[in-house]
Amino acid sequence: MEKIAISSTKGGVGKTSLTVLIAKHLQSKGLKIGIVDADIYGPNILRLLDFKNKQYELILKENNLFEPVVIDGIALSSISFVINQSEAVAWRGPMLSSAIKQIVTKVDWGNLDFLLIDMPPGTGDAYLTIFDEIKIKKSLLVAVDDELSIDDLKKTDNLFNKLNVSQIGIIENLSEKFLLGDKPILSKKIQDEFPNHKILFSLPRIPKSQFYNEIRKISKLKDYFPDKLLT
Ligand SMILES: Nc1ncnc2c1ncn2[C@@H]1O[C@H](COP(=O)(O)OP(=O)(O)O)[C@@H](O)[C@H]1O
Ligand SMILES: [Mg+2]
Repeated sequence: MEKIAISSTKGGVGKTSLTVLIAKHLQSKGLKIGIVDADIYGPNILRLLDFKNKQYELILKENNLFEPVVIDGIALSSISFVINQSEAVAWRGPMLSSAIKQIVTKVDWGNLDFLLIDMPPGTGDAYLTIFDEIKIKKSLLVAVDDELSIDDLKKTDNLFNKLNVSQIGIIENLSEKFLLGDKPILSKKIQDEFPNHKILFSLPRIPKSQFYNEIRKISKLKDYFPDKLLT
């Protein structure tokens, strides 16, 4: 099971959305995928999967590991299972470490090909704790063609270089250079600013009315994924 962090310093660039989309894309290639919602500041992947108000039961198995919640074939564990969301930001180091341990190492993931980690924004203590506890070695960066977002992403890039996390490449999101259904145009600016990274693919900014449908069914968006992502 390979663990891959979906990262960016900035919030709102599409980490969570892309975690779901990548999971669905890889699943459509026959791979077994799990997701860890590690966004301690705002775990929201269940909402994106249309599962927010549905019932789920955390089952502790005989081997003392929890069963992940399985949604449309994707195994999921979320920080929202172990905490009340409003408490999250008040956590100190050891509490955070133990919660992260609980949602990753105390889960019976079975035979997964990839475990995708939906990261919180930032490069602070929470970030380091998650990388430490989960022993993540690889990361995908999410970038938006925007000055502030690029400045912030450089911090993540630097941090990963220090932590020796290898970076698979950049995914550009929210591009305004093409529309859903059009041929993609990759950002020259992002490529210039990160000369050592490859832009793996780019997704357009999608009208709200179509976005959630695309996230759940990944119909038109699937044309933007490279055939071999991560394999
Ligand atoms: N390609 C896209 N087109 C349109 N809206 C998007 C796209 N990607 C993300 N969004 C929207 O942007 C917001 C932030 O996305 P999210 O995945 O939660 O980002 P992050 O996890 O980085 O904070 C959400 O409201 C989401 O619906
Ligand atoms: Mg998120």
